[in-house]
Amino acid sequence: MDRISIVGGKPLNGSLAISGAKNAALPLMIASLLTSERLTLKNVPNLADVNTLARILRNHGVDLAVDGKRSEPSPYLGETFHLTARDIVDTTAPYEMVARMRASFWVLGPLLARCGEARVSMPGGCAIGTRPVDLHLMAMKALGAEIDIDGGYVVARAPHGLKGARITFPKVSVGATHSALMAASLAKGETLIENAAREPEIGDVAECLTKMGARIEGIGTSTLRVAGASRLEGAVHTVLPDRIETGTYAFAVAAAGGDVELRGARKSLLDTALITLEKTGVAIAETPHGIRVSRNGRDLEPITIETQPYPGFPTDLQAQLMALMTRAKGTSTIRETIFENRFMHVQELARLGADIQLQGDTATIRGVKSLRGAQVMATDLRASVSLVIAGLMAEGRTTINRVYHLDRGFERLEQKLSGCGAEIERLVSG
Ligand code: EPU
Repeated sequence: MDRISIVGGKPLNGSLAISGAKNAALPLMIASLLTSERLTLKNVPNLADVNTLARILRNHGVDLAVDGKRSEPSPYLGETFHLTARDIVDTTAPYEMVARMRASFWVLGPLLARCGEARVSMPGGCAIGTRPVDLHLMAMKALGAEIDIDGGYVVARAPHGLKGARITFPKVSVGATHSALMAASLAKGETLIENAAREPEIGDVAECLTKMGARIEGIGTSTLRVAGASRLEGAVHTVLPDRIETGTYAFAVAAAGGDVELRGARKSLLDTALITLEKTGVAIAETPHGIRVSRNGRDLEPITIETQPYPGFPTDLQAQLMALMTRAKGTSTIRETIFENRFMHVQELARLGADIQLQGDTATIRGVKSLRGAQVMATDLRASVSLVIAGLMAEGRTTINRVYHLDRGFERLEQKLSGCGAEIERLVSG
């Protein structure tokens, strides 16, 4: 298993490029199941999760051709995927595949809408919480599907197709909104989705579905009105920039100090996170090509915040903010309201000397004068990258084990950071 080694204390300067958003690329790839025509996606990031999903989609019969293959090292341009699901050859998503990546459960809606049936393994829990799928099932039932649970699988049937309906989510869910939106695009008649998640990645998928022939009103709001089409067409779509990667590098610059332009980043996708960062004393400016983040010598101010669905402060940046606040001049409070167990990084940050008390869903972080490098363990994607941020601030060497978690969601992380002056390298095992 690869490890990442960081020697902290070096400021970051220069520029780095932001990749396409993982959490848009995944549902966009899944949307290819909705049409027999070719869906071309540009700016797809090269990530382990994308490759896992590609294997799952191939299993259903999707033909995937990749162009723009890069010879290393290359400029940070995403890949172009051509996905064609001419015939769906298998409507089962097996346990071995869904267990590897939760978002693969989202094939349920498109398979059901296109083929009238789907058998998809329940994803089970994961490091950040139990993560049920009841809201996905609620949406499919509302659209007319019959649902059984058999041998750990969701077996869904709609032999006469899905029918438009009113779906009112009792709780905001990104995945269930994706599921409902994709299924409704091929359902008969109109669907109203209320209390929909408003994450920009949902808007990106909605825009792609519109290009494919669905009619969707209310994009970017919590009420989506979808006029289903009897068939959807091929389309060409560019994946929007990754706001979580953007925020992560912004926090990294804040942590290490320095001045970096995040090329291709779009400020409007992460206003709350950037405003939070500004409150800590970090300067943010929009540039013609992205966002510039700088902190030169100033102390970090503590912060009190809670995670919220978009447009609130994202849970996917909670661990990174916590890493940063370990060195703030004072006490910060961070409340996690989305996932019940997303604090795996706390005990690892403590190994570097952080002072964090956990009580229920709230972490109290007392800023310390210094962190010291140590061996730490990556536990989930965002927790892992918080350890990178802490490593950049720590004195001496930090070694992060189990970095496959990082590879799920960060493309060429070591190259991007070392290009800005960080002392970071991958230690390849075996
Ligand atoms: N929930 C339910 N029932 C459901 C679905 C969700 O109770 O049927 C609950 C969850 O347990 C959680 C809350 O609703 O407490 C929100 O979960 P959501 O469904 O919004 O999460 P998700 O769709 O599974 C996506 C991202 C996550 C991100 C969350 C929240 C992708 C591929 N994943 O997950 O990203 O944290 O939304 O913004 O888009 C990551 O990238 O590291 C990651 C975990």
